[in-house]
Amino acid sequence: MTFKIGRNDPCWCGSGKKYKVCHQAFDEKIATYANQGCIVPPHDIIKTPDQIAGIKESCKINIAVLDYIQEHIHPGMNTAEIDKIVYDITTDMGGIPAPLHYEGYPYSVCTSVNEQVCHGFPSENVILKEGDIVNVDCSTILNGFFSDSSRMFCIGEITPEKRRLVDVTKECVEMGLAQVKPWGFLGDMGQAVHDHAFANGYTVVREIGGHGVGLEFHEEPWVGYNSKRGTEMLMVPGMIFTIEPMVNMGKVEIYVDDENDWEVYTQDGLPSAQWEIMVLVTEEGHEVLCW
Ligand code: MF3
Ligand code: CO
Repeated sequence: MTFKIGRNDPCWCGSGKKYKVCHQAFDEKIATYANQGCIVPPHDIIKTPDQIAGIKESCKINIAVLDYIQEHIHPGMNTAEIDKIVYDITTDMGGIPAPLHYEGYPYSVCTSVNEQVCHGFPSENVILKEGDIVNVDCSTILNGFFSDSSRMFCIGEITPEKRRLVDVTKECVEMGLAQVKPWGFLGDMGQAVHDHAFANGYTVVREIGGHGVGLEFHEEPWVGYNSKRGTEMLMVPGMIFTIEPMVNMGKVEIYVDDENDWEVYTQDGLPSAQWEIMVLVTEEGHEVLCW
């Protein structure tokens, strides 16, 4: 149920200003899109300046953790060591690793190696070796604000085929990002990601996507990459979501480990890569908050 706000009532955004001088024109613009049948964002995923400030503080921890791992990851290291680093730095900086106990997830971070698509469990038995590619997916809660990003790391010398997969996947994110601007559609971003992967002979995982983030770990909208330009949710200033395509070198099919119900693998056993950024839609375009 929604209540119509009076022009002189306080705005829903919490600014303390009257609705008519705050978000009324904004809401009317969104309503014209809704009337044309577009999917439009609900108010609760449009962040206020105070919330954005809090989310940015959370992002600082996430970035610091990934920067540290980038400096210290090496052949012979096991992924449980990465988990400990993530836990220690995050908590030292006053945060909480968001994955820990999230829907029963048992670790502080996801470490997905080679043909692991995502949600890889850190383990003493997974020892990084020359030629591996690994995604480290890190998420932080600070004062109730969430951040989420991931990077690929190449262990020593890797094959040109793996290098190209890692690089093209990053380019996919950059090309998607270039489409993020207010009054565009999420499908503009999704199609750009997909087209670039496809042009390079790769496939983009369909079942798992990005998400709104900030006040919760996973908020609306769901962010897929098999979408078409001009479709999916309207992007408006104040929205924050992730762009995090999983790009497979081979076939698109994946499966979930049926013993732990978390770890995801490519069905054909070929490598998969992923980069994840967190982006804010601004009045002018976008701002990357976390990478
Ligand atoms: N960080 C992942 C994402 O990008 C979420 C993983 S869920 C977890 O959305 F429980 F495994 F952390
Ligand atoms: Co995410």
